[in-house]
Amino acid sequence: MTSLRWWQKGVFYQIYPRSFADSNGDGIGDIPGMTAKLDYLQKLGIDGIWLSPHYPSPMWDCGYDVADYIGVAAEYGTMDDFKHFLEEAHRRDIRVILDLVLNHTSDEHPWFLESRSSRDNPKRDWYIWRDGTPENPPNDWYSTFGGSAWEYDALTGQSYYHFFFKQQPDLNWRNPEVVKAMLDSMRFWYEMGVDGFRIDAIGTLFEDEALTPHGQPFGLVELRLMDREARTGKERRKVAKMWDRLFRYQHDLPGMHEIIQQMRDLTNEYEGRMLVGETDDIRYHGTKDDELHMVFNFPLMTTNHMTPQWARDNQKKRLSQLPAFAWPCNTLNNHDTGRAYSNMGDGINNDAIARVNLALMLTLRGTPFLYNGEEIGMSNLMLDHISQFKDTLGTWIYAAAMEYAGATPAQALEEAAKAGRDKGRTPMQWRRAPQAGFCPEGVQPWLPVNPDYLKGINVEDQDQDPASMLNFYRQMLAMRRRNPALIEGDYQPLLEKSRSVLAFWRRCPAQQCVVVLNMSAKKRTIDLGMAGQKFKRVFSSHERPAAGTMGKLRLEPYEIWIGEIIS
Ligand code: GLC
Repeated sequence: MTSLRWWQKGVFYQIYPRSFADSNGDGIGDIPGMTAKLDYLQKLGIDGIWLSPHYPSPMWDCGYDVADYIGVAAEYGTMDDFKHFLEEAHRRDIRVILDLVLNHTSDEHPWFLESRSSRDNPKRDWYIWRDGTPENPPNDWYSTFGGSAWEYDALTGQSYYHFFFKQQPDLNWRNPEVVKAMLDSMRFWYEMGVDGFRIDAIGTLFEDEALTPHGQPFGLVELRLMDREARTGKERRKVAKMWDRLFRYQHDLPGMHEIIQQMRDLTNEYEGRMLVGETDDIRYHGTKDDELHMVFNFPLMTTNHMTPQWARDNQKKRLSQLPAFAWPCNTLNNHDTGRAYSNMGDGINNDAIARVNLALMLTLRGTPFLYNGEEIGMSNLMLDHISQFKDTLGTWIYAAAMEYAGATPAQALEEAAKAGRDKGRTPMQWRRAPQAGFCPEGVQPWLPVNPDYLKGINVEDQDQDPASMLNFYRQMLAMRRRNPALIEGDYQPLLEKSRSVLAFWRRCPAQQCVVVLNMSAKKRTIDLGMAGQKFKRVFSSHERPAAGTMGKLRLEPYEIWIGEIIS
């Protein structure tokens, strides 16, 4: 296994710093809080942390609106706190990658304040300014978060472009000074010892220079309504295609590869560092391993019912498309998607489904990314009053549902709770204590704590219970680490017609494993066609012999069985 690099062998864990652990009692997670939980993470068995933005920010988009790329948000701690966290993580063999928000800054970033101050300011061209007024914007483009992509600024009588919120003006990546400033920021963290970056919204860096109008007969509000109504895969794909048409001049445009190559060159100057992009576009691996180390296999998670067919089709397509030098990367949830436990659960067997889905993540070929809290089975929390909302996308959906879609306040609230992102960002549940031990008693956390912490969904209770979700995660992570085939082995599907069981080979010179996942609520009997071959049990979610001879396998509902085939 020596030829693989740490980020290929390891498992990443995303920390959403605001919701992880509050050490100073202000209701907001912070860096010393994270440091204090490193032992917990080491015991869990992860290898790398992806830290969502920890930079100074007005927090309009919860840190994805950066006001200083080489600083630390005061409410999260100091630079010394961060250095200490990094050292302590490294001491435990845990690497740390940062979130790099390249497409835009905060509208309070000094660069933007300068840029907006006058038309001839030296930083004017760091952002995208064009003639236009609110009535007559530079073109018909939308912001993906709603409304026009252009914001008029009366101070200089021009409009600036923003793909996301108007508080997140887009940088002009055609300006070499911008490129240099960002590369310098990356260097700053590499010099400190940071192990890499997750590059935010990488596809949005460039927009069409000629500002070609999208020219579509529909708008973003109609599209959102269609998305809400879409039930079938076909309907969802249609919406996705329409979204592409609406935004075709605003993302994944020429110029990207050269920029990413520069970032890769810089990264290569430092031993063992890596880049993963928030995109599923495999072109950003480059043509000769000269761009991103990894992109996410997002298509795998765009279902609310993981089936063998879905996973097989995804793997077939994805693995055949990836260039030979590229390494896959899988995930089922993050701070934008809501929690897989709820999204992919059926409301009855959520626990068993979450376990099978974890087994899938840890046995597919590629690097898994987990999201903090999933290891204790945290679920989506639907907020029940608009005053509780912190995600500005959620509050926008609330207002838009009433304004454009004639929703009642109650309907708008339901829609915003579902489509907004707060539901998956609630504080980590550490103990069966007030506020789930996230912050001291009597302190109001920044988002409400999910009351299910009282029902065993907390670290303290699960730590002691051998059958808990937490201990299941620990066991599976340890099992993955011990079995080279699950890390470096190839992937080859078995039982390709089965509608309930996903089975596949993972084989490398040192070991041959078969992974069997019953993704259904029914007992199933399968025949892998390996009768007579000897096996050793690698992992089983049910009572199974430690070794034996292969024959028919009688699987319990949602059973996970992984065996090493010896002869
Ligand atoms: C990415 C982030 C999301 C953020 C957006 C704008 O998609 O994951 O949270 O709102 O970029 O930075």
